[in-house]
Amino acid sequence: MEVPFFSALRQHAALQKELESAFARFFQQGTFILGKEVKMFEDAYAHFHDMPFCTSVANGLDAIFISLKSLHIGPGDEVLVPSHTCFATWLAVSRTGATPVPVEVNPGNFTIDVNLLEAASTSRTKAIIPVHLYGHPCAMPPLIALAHKHHWYVVEDNAQAQGAKCHQQLTGSWGDMSATSFYPTKNLGAWGDGGAILSNKEIHHQFHQAFRNYGSVEKDVHRLMGVNSRLDELQAAILNIKLKHLHVWNARRVGHAKHYHQLLSGVGDLILPDLGDENHQPVFHLYVIQTAYRDRLKTYLEAHGIGTGIHYPTPIHLQEAYYDLGYKEGSLPIAERLSKTILSLPIWPELELTEIEKVAQAIRTFFSNHL
Ligand SMILES: Cc1ncc(COP(=O)(O)O)c(C=O)c1O
Repeated sequence: MEVPFFSALRQHAALQKELESAFARFFQQGTFILGKEVKMFEDAYAHFHDMPFCTSVANGLDAIFISLKSLHIGPGDEVLVPSHTCFATWLAVSRTGATPVPVEVNPGNFTIDVNLLEAASTSRTKAIIPVHLYGHPCAMPPLIALAHKHHWYVVEDNAQAQGAKCHQQLTGSWGDMSATSFYPTKNLGAWGDGGAILSNKEIHHQFHQAFRNYGSVEKDVHRLMGVNSRLDELQAAILNIKLKHLHVWNARRVGHAKHYHQLLSGVGDLILPDLGDENHQPVFHLYVIQTAYRDRLKTYLEAHGIGTGIHYPTPIHLQEAYYDLGYKEGSLPIAERLSKTILSLPIWPELELTEIEKVAQAIRTFFSNHL
C-alpha cells in the first residue's frame, strides 16, 4: 500500500456528479472571465468568513501584493513578516518596493512570535503579515492589540488556514484584510491557480476590484494602473462546489492530526505539532513533525512508498533572491533550524485511518531499528 503525500483523486470521485454538471453549464454558456460564478464565489467566500467584501484574484501571491498596494505600501516602508513561511509572503512585500523584515516564529506552532514584533519594528514599519502557517492560527488578539497601538496595518496570509479559528473567530477575518490562495493542494483548492482578498472597508474593496482588472471596473475606464489578476469562471465554479465541503474536510484533517499525535507521541526525538486548544483551532493544511534525523527518515519513508514534503528546505533570508538584504547563516536561527528538521506527513482529508497507521508504523520502525 503506497501513501502519496497528496492526492485529489478520491475527492474528485466523491464530487464527480456535481463537478460534471458544473462543466456541462460551460457548454451552454460563453462566459469565462468575471461572470456569475466568480460573483457567486466572492459572495459565498465573504459570507463564510462573515466579512463584508471579497475580491477573487489569480493567485495567492497577487492577493497579498494587491492587498498591500491598496494600503499604499511601497518603497521606504517596512513590513513585518515571519522568518519561516512560503517564499510568496516575502515576495509580495518586495514587489511593492517595500522591505520585508523577518521576525522569528514559535517552533511549536510555526507562527510569528508576537513577543518579538516591537523589537523588530522601526518608524518605517507600516504593516504586519501574520501567516497562519500549516493551518495553525496565529495569536491574533495580542497581535491586533500591538498593531492598533503602533498604527500598523494587518494583512493576514490565510493561504494555508481556510477554516481555522482563533478565539472562535475564523482566521482571515481578523485583520484589515486577508489574502488566500486556492492552489490545488490547499484546504480549499481549485484545479489551477486562484486566490482571494477579504476586506472590511468598501474603499479597499473598490481598489481590489479595479486593480485586479487593469485598474478598471467600468469597461474602458481605467482609474489605476492595475494588473491582470482575475480568477476565471471555471475555477470559481469548482470552488463554489468545494466551499460547501470545507468544514467537513477540515474536521477530517483534524481527526488525522489527532491520530498521528496518539501514534507518534514519545517516538524517537520527534517533536509533534501543537494540536491547539479551544482558542486555537488549527486545520492542519500540513502535519509537520520535527526531527534531527529528517533527511534519513524522509529517504526511509519514500523507500517504503510513503510520500512526504519539506515546507520549506531553504530559509528565505538565505535564498539568492534576498542576498541584498544582507542576512547570513546564523541571522535567524529558528528558521534555519526548522528548515533542517521539519518533515510534512500525508494529511489530506480522504486518507483512511489504515493509511495514517501505516505512516506512523513506518516511522516507529525507523526509530527503533534504523538509527
Ligand atoms: C503561506 C502562503 N502564502 C502565499 C502563497 C502564495 O499562493 P500562490 O501559490 O497561489 O501564489 C502560498 C501558496 O503557495 C502560501 O502557502
